[in-house]
Amino acid sequence: MAHYVVNGGKRLEGVVTIGGAKNAALPIITAAVLAGERCRIENLPAIDDVKILCKILQKMGASVEFTPDGGMNLDPRGIDPHRGVTFDMVSSLRASYYLLGALLGRYGYVELAQPGGCSIGQRPMDLHIKGMRALGAEVSMSRGKITAKADKLVGSDIYLDVVSVGATINIMLAAARAEGQTIISNAAKEPHVVDVANFLNMMGASIKGAGTDVIRINGRQKLRGCTYAIIPDQIEAGTYMIAAAATGGDVIISNVIPTHLEAISAKLMESGVRVVEGDDGKEFFIRVTADTRLRAVNIRTIPYPGFPTDLQQPMMALLTTAKGNSFIVENIFEDRFNHVAELERMGANIKLNGRTAIVEGVEQLYGAPIYASDLRAGAALIIAALMADGESEVHNIRYIDRGYEHLQEKLRALGADIVRVED
Ligand code: UD1
Repeated sequence: MAHYVVNGGKRLEGVVTIGGAKNAALPIITAAVLAGERCRIENLPAIDDVKILCKILQKMGASVEFTPDGGMNLDPRGIDPHRGVTFDMVSSLRASYYLLGALLGRYGYVELAQPGGCSIGQRPMDLHIKGMRALGAEVSMSRGKITAKADKLVGSDIYLDVVSVGATINIMLAAARAEGQTIISNAAKEPHVVDVANFLNMMGASIKGAGTDVIRINGRQKLRGCTYAIIPDQIEAGTYMIAAAATGGDVIISNVIPTHLEAISAKLMESGVRVVEGDDGKEFFIRVTADTRLRAVNIRTIPYPGFPTDLQQPMMALLTTAKGNSFIVENIFEDRFNHVAELERMGANIKLNGRTAIVEGVEQLYGAPIYASDLRAGAALIIAALMADGESEVHNIRYIDRGYEHLQEKLRALGADIVRVED
């Protein structure tokens, strides 16, 4: 298995261009199944999760063709929903749960192994299933497999007990082909929810209110193929903003939507970082500059537009050397602190108490062999390694490959000393 060798202590400087959003790309690729025609999807991130999802669709009979410009053509017409999606296909891909809504909406039948993905908590699917049942599907679960079927889906009013990105999108997918109107209340408002709704609308669906907590979907009997470009990745952009700040750097993060990054910009500024938004005439960018020791800040992860749970781990790496005590409360996932022990190995001083981490800033982190436990923990460890004095080896980078495109190339172009070693 490959690992990264990072020699820390280099200030990041230059320009980095952000790719397409992982958490929009995965449901959008799956949503293309709902069309009776070929779709073209552009600005795809070059990450393993996209490749894995496309392999699953190909195994089910879809035709997938990647084009050199970073796009893909997907023709779902050959899909046979009775070719079940097995555990080995979905064990590493949480987002495979979107096949539930998409295949049910398109074919009225789906058989799916329960998805895997990052170990950051229990991650139940009760709200996804509640949504499918409310639309009239018969859903059964046995031996790690979910089977859902419906002669016809019928729109319904669905209240989500917890704000869930996955359940909101999954219900939108199925409801786009249901008869009549579906209203999702307490819906997630994340940028990728809006992006999926925009894609579905381009296919001929009628979805209003995405981006607010009430989404209204009027189902259509047929959806058509379309061409669509995915939004820039909010979390990749936030990760580079944090990496720039953590190394005392000066980096322009280009191809971003600054409003998606307000929570992270605000926290970085509170800790003493200069964050400036701009428009170069072609794209929006954010410039992040840090030249003094940063101050401790408190973080509470909250659904969008609050501070995203996916940046809690990278932000903690930055705060390990900030002056003072930072309180970090993880409200979304109960077990998203697996990176803490690794940061401590590098000299960080962190106390855990339930869902709260208290980070007492130290002067310096030191290089060490460290092990990623999940995707965003991996991003946090890369940032810590960039900050540290000396050499670190970052292991388990298969998690990082799932969600960050061309990481080594992008960081090296900013002046980082990072080398990928294929073991
Ligand atoms: C998605 C993202 C993930 C991000 C998370 C929160 C993808 C592929 N993954 O994950 O990167 O960290 O949103 O922004 O897009 N919950 C239930 N029942 C359910 C579903 C969720 O109780 O049926 C709970 C979860 O345990 C969690 C909370 O709801 O506490 C939010 O989870 P959710 O938004 O669904 O996260 P994911 O869709 O799994």
